[in-house]
Amino acid sequence: MQSNVAVIVGSLRQAGYSRLMARAIARLAPPSMRLVDVPIGDLPLYNEDLETATPPAAWTGFREAIAGCEAVLFVTPEYNRSMPGAMKNALDVGSRPWGKSVWSGKPAAVVSVSPGALGGMASNLHLRQVLYAVNLVTMPHPEAYIAAAGSLFDEGGQLASAATREFLTGFLQAFETWIRRQRPALAGFGD
Ligand SMILES: Cc1cc2nc3c(=O)[nH]c(=O)nc-3n(C[C@H](O)[C@H](O)[C@H](O)COP(=O)(O)O)c2cc1C
Repeated sequence: MQSNVAVIVGSLRQAGYSRLMARAIARLAPPSMRLVDVPIGDLPLYNEDLETATPPAAWTGFREAIAGCEAVLFVTPEYNRSMPGAMKNALDVGSRPWGKSVWSGKPAAVVSVSPGALGGMASNLHLRQVLYAVNLVTMPHPEAYIAAAGSLFDEGGQLASAATREFLTGFLQAFETWIRRQRPALAGFGD
């Protein structure tokens, strides 16, 4: 059975390392996973005043896109030792209206990416804290802190590092297993 996996990229810039990494991950994904890019750059900042019978169309489109996926993969840079604000906003938008969160119970995984030496570890761990709050069932291991991102891609934006490709292939296999393990629980979810 194929799973639709929403991919949320925390960087809004076109040439971002996180975006390149998300594309590389999509190329490495097993046939059982269909990775669906769900953009977050046009989501208005979360504001409860806008949570009316007609919320912003971008919020509705985003919520529908996530609801249509069985799992979520977050690929995030690190901004000031946390996730970018756009990523947190997307999580807030998906978590409301109260009782209708699109996140709850879905399997998730996190990849952090940085040109620095720590691979966005603080961002990754901060993000995980929020994923617990919205009840995304986040894969604990393997952890993916991708460091020195500036040296991993060739001029065409392809992932040139064989070691990173190998690591990500194993990461995706583990995520596939994680999604499959959650499926029996999901089958009864919302019944
Ligand atoms: C506002 C801001 C804060 C940043 N803070 C961090 C940080 O805490 N840790 C880090 O490793 N890199 C930090 N960086 C550098 C980013 O890792 C770098 O700009 C990276 O290329 C952004 O990800 P992207 O290429 O996917 O857009 C920061 C960049 C910006 C713009």
